[in-house]
Amino acid sequence: MAAGYSTTAKFFHWTVAFLVLTIVPMGLLMVRMPDGSLKDNFFYLHKSVGALVLFLMTLRLIYRFAKGAPPPEASLQRWEVLASETVHWTLYAMLLATPLVALLAYSFYGQPAPFFGIFEIGPFTSKNEHLSEQIFYVHTWMGWTVGALFSMHIAAALRHYFIRRDGVLQRMLPRGMGGN
Ligand code: HEM
Ligand code: HEM
Repeated sequence: MAAGYSTTAKFFHWTVAFLVLTIVPMGLLMVRMPDGSLKDNFFYLHKSVGALVLFLMTLRLIYRFAKGAPPPEASLQRWEVLASETVHWTLYAMLLATPLVALLAYSFYGQPAPFFGIFEIGPFTSKNEHLSEQIFYVHTWMGWTVGALFSMHIAAALRHYFIRRDGVLQRMLPRGMGGN
């Protein structure tokens, strides 16, 4: 049986996947909905979950560098290994940079960012609303890029499972769900 990811790596993967699959649609929705308490709550949750993703991804990256990952599935061609590793590492980078850029923008906005009502983050710069707007514009594009990347990633995982029928998806599935 091919080597799979460790339990810790799977925990990080599925926790972050769940959070990111929530936060991106929430971001897209919240900026387009009418003013009101639902919109305010979505903004609040978006910021808190975004900061949680930053925290988890920092731990995950340290873990990844310390422990590495199983070698690529044996049946993959060279271009597939290259493509998947490029998407994985770009996701790692974007999942750190996207919330960091947002927190910087929010700091220039002059407000502390919430973390589920437990504590607040910043502001750690002087107020500059114009700069804040410009940096949020960059954040918006980064958010869309994360969405595009995980769509490609999920499509590739499904292709492996349903079309290629190789063991790639099983490497990341929990043992109880057919993973290895
Ligand atoms: C992995 C982390 C994050 C992702 C993937 C993400 C993604 C997104 C997306 C897709 C949008 C909607 C873009 C649009 O269509 O206009 C958005 C907007 C926004 N995000 Fe995030 N976000 C993250 C973290 C954060 C954090 C930590 C904050 C905290 C300050 C934040 C604050 C905002 C705000 C205020 C907007 C609205 C921006 C505007 O309307 O100008 N985000 N985000
Ligand atoms: C239904 C959703 C998803 C499925 C089925 C899935 C499946 C997988 C699989 C099978 C792998 C291992 C690939 C290999 O062996 O080379 C993997 C790795 C990875 N996935 Fe996902 N994934 C999903 C969602 C996501 C999301 C939403 C993100 C990020 C936002 C993400 C980020 C990553 C990263 C960064 C890796 C590389 C892990 C490493 O090598 O350290 N995944 N995913």
